[in-house]
Amino acid sequence: MKVSQDLVSDVAEVLLTEEQIAAKVAELGQRITADYAGHELTLVSVLKGSLPFMADLMRRISLPVRIDLMEVSSYGGNATESSGLVRILKDLSAPIEGRDVLLVEDIIDTGLTLNYLLRYLKGKNPRSIKVCSLLDKPARRLVEFPLDYVGFEIPDAFVVGYGLDFGEVYRNLRFVGVLRPEAYES
Ligand code: IMP
Repeated sequence: MKVSQDLVSDVAEVLLTEEQIAAKVAELGQRITADYAGHELTLVSVLKGSLPFMADLMRRISLPVRIDLMEVSSYGGNATESSGLVRILKDLSAPIEGRDVLLVEDIIDTGLTLNYLLRYLKGKNPRSIKVCSLLDKPARRLVEFPLDYVGFEIPDAFVVGYGLDFGEVYRNLRFVGVLRPEAYES
């Protein structure tokens, strides 16, 4: 894998600009604030891809909010495909029993990771659990479930930026883009 120094040269197409993302995050924050009015909310995000989204979204929610972070890795897949076999690398640091939980995700692709996480978190007896994902790639879905809040539906392409990586690189791009095939192949 050969990565250009400026990262941007490896991007074939910008799918979502920094401005589009910021406007959507503000809109999602407003909806969540209205929907949970009068409640406290626990945001659970999944490292590492959801980090920028979580950081921006939480500051657009005007409610008492707690945050917690999990880290999972899917094993048995490869750099661009998840396998559905999920290993928890970092668990919640506080109980969520009786709490209203919003799971904050970067992207739902096959849905296998989310399916595992939802079952795992429901087992901890939250009062409610909903899902907010910045991106949704419905073309590749293998497991169906309702997504309560979605930023953007995107086509079936492997995307990087705003937290999303290829080989752990490109997470710090401020936009979401599609990589040039050369960046995959080399
Ligand atoms: P799923 O289990 O197939 O839904 O995959 C979910 C996880 O795979 C996401 O949280 C991402 O970490 C990763 N992923 C899926 N699609 C992409 C993509 O287009 N770019 C970068 N990471 C992706």
